[in-house]
Amino acid sequence: MARGLPKLLGVVGAGQMGAGIAQVAATCGLQVVLVDRAASQLERAAEGMRASLARLAAKGRLPGGADPDAVLARLQPATELEALAAADYVVEAVPEREALKADVFRALDSLAPPHAVLASNTSSISITRLAAATARPDRVVGLHFMNPVPVMGLIELVRGMQTSDETFEATQRLATHLGKTTCVSLDRPGFIVNRILMPMINEAFFALMEGVGTAHDIDTGMKLGTNQPMGPLTLADFIGLDTCLSIMRVLHDNLGDDKYRPCPLLIQYVDAGWLGKKSGRGVYSYS
Ligand code: CAA
Repeated sequence: MARGLPKLLGVVGAGQMGAGIAQVAATCGLQVVLVDRAASQLERAAEGMRASLARLAAKGRLPGGADPDAVLARLQPATELEALAAADYVVEAVPEREALKADVFRALDSLAPPHAVLASNTSSISITRLAAATARPDRVVGLHFMNPVPVMGLIELVRGMQTSDETFEATQRLATHLGKTTCVSLDRPGFIVNRILMPMINEAFFALMEGVGTAHDIDTGMKLGTNQPMGPLTLADFIGLDTCLSIMRVLHDNLGDDKYRPCPLLIQYVDAGWLGKKSGRGVYSYS
């Protein structure tokens, strides 16, 4: 790694998080390979990145006045993980399902060079367990970005049981290079941010289910009453209700306490396919 930074950064999964991570890394001068097995997802990601870069450029917010075309030229899309054979740092950002993530880690372990660090953008799943799917648990770490990645200032760093100091320091260096502030969490369910954020969102669904207030009143109350940029139900739609539910299930299953029980209304929205902004309908409609 040049200057202690990856020469080639791989990102696996071109959803809203993976695309955002790839965009920020390329903006900060890194060569990036973005892998998704669906070519259509890569096309959607490219469109989203173009729009985001244009917004940032118009406000003079691209570091060093970076040129959006030059940023995009540093990004190589690929549909096969084999494209990561030369990557020296890989960030996994596939959907929040442990079996899926473990499969990706197993495949990356056999493909990526032995020195490569394998990081997960998981928002709640155990880094120690993902690391155990590989033969390099010392080179596995949690690198948890916030949504929208180009705008949010934080990365949560998570040390697995076997993460080495060298891996952790390389990860801290990368996060700093990407212009983000870090907080460091132990490898515990939901880490710091989602351990605290998701129960608040879940409670907002209980309040909605019990008719304590309308969605609008709950969001207005929390947005203006506690000075948050979005009310909790709007934020849930923005994150994705399926992601919120997965994280609540991780908290409930692993911490045991009934205070983490997912709200039945949240479960029902997900069962209905009302996943939030990305599906056009969540608590609110986006058509
Ligand atoms: N790319 C580039 N710029 C973007 C952008 C993107 N993807 N999204 C928003 N922006 C910019 C806008 O251009 C705008 O810039 P100006 O202030 O210069 O006009 C600015 O961000 C604000 O955007 P908007 O005016 O469109 O709307 P807003 O004021 O509501 O801000 C928001 C949008 C930044 C998303 C803000 O509402 C916010 O911070 N919401 C809370 C987000 C949050 O809590 N994220 C964490 C979720 S939890 C998580 O990610 C962890 C997990 O594991 C689930």
